[in-house]
Amino acid sequence: MRIDIITAVPDLLKSPLEHSIVKKATEKKLAEIHIHNLRDYAINDYGQIDDYQFGGGAGMVLRIEPIDTIISKLQEERHYDEIIYTTPDAKVLTQADANTLSLKENIIILTGHYKGVDQRVRDRWITKEISIGDYVLSGGELAAAIICDAVIRLIPGVLGDETSALTDSFQDGLLAPPVYTRPAAYKGMEVPKVLLSGHEANIEAWRQEQAEERTKNIRPDLM
Ligand code: 6GU
Repeated sequence: MRIDIITAVPDLLKSPLEHSIVKKATEKKLAEIHIHNLRDYAINDYGQIDDYQFGGGAGMVLRIEPIDTIISKLQEERHYDEIIYTTPDAKVLTQADANTLSLKENIIILTGHYKGVDQRVRDRWITKEISIGDYVLSGGELAAAIICDAVIRLIPGVLGDETSALTDSFQDGLLAPPVYTRPAAYKGMEVPKVLLSGHEANIEAWRQEQAEERTKNIRPDLM
């Protein structure tokens, strides 16, 4: 899978994508991430990429020309399955979205910034708009890093069996059950006996029951 990210703040994105599972995926050549600095496609020598909004109002808006230049260049090089725009005024990313995206070959993520982007960019090129939650970030860069992480870990071969994505919270629509490790007793706090029993069916039933209980209490909207 190839992900091209277009951003005005490339430094904000680099570090989160250079560690852990995303790093492993890129090293194993299961994913490649290319970060493009929107300022390299500025409309003038001052590096201008944004402007005041028509009709008045606070905040700068990303202009269409730099985005047209970079997206058109990328589209000449290969076909893109999805061109995503990160913005708080969109549907919130779900595990189902991440699952679907993990099967794509090439995607572009355009990160929103300032007050947003000229609407004509969204109308012309964007095939999917994603928010990561109901709160406002200063830019879409961290959202893009989160989307990359959620998607890349699902690519077959990225995770080993022992960390399989299939047992994640949300994959079965429920939150994950509690987990424990050694010691079995610590300062009077004990691990549930069933987990020490070695009885697989009982353990599975307990986990299911705990997952349902947690979901009911914390996220009843998922039930
Ligand atoms: Cl994708 N961008 C921004 N700027 N804020 C957000 C967001 C995205 N998702 C939630 N808040």
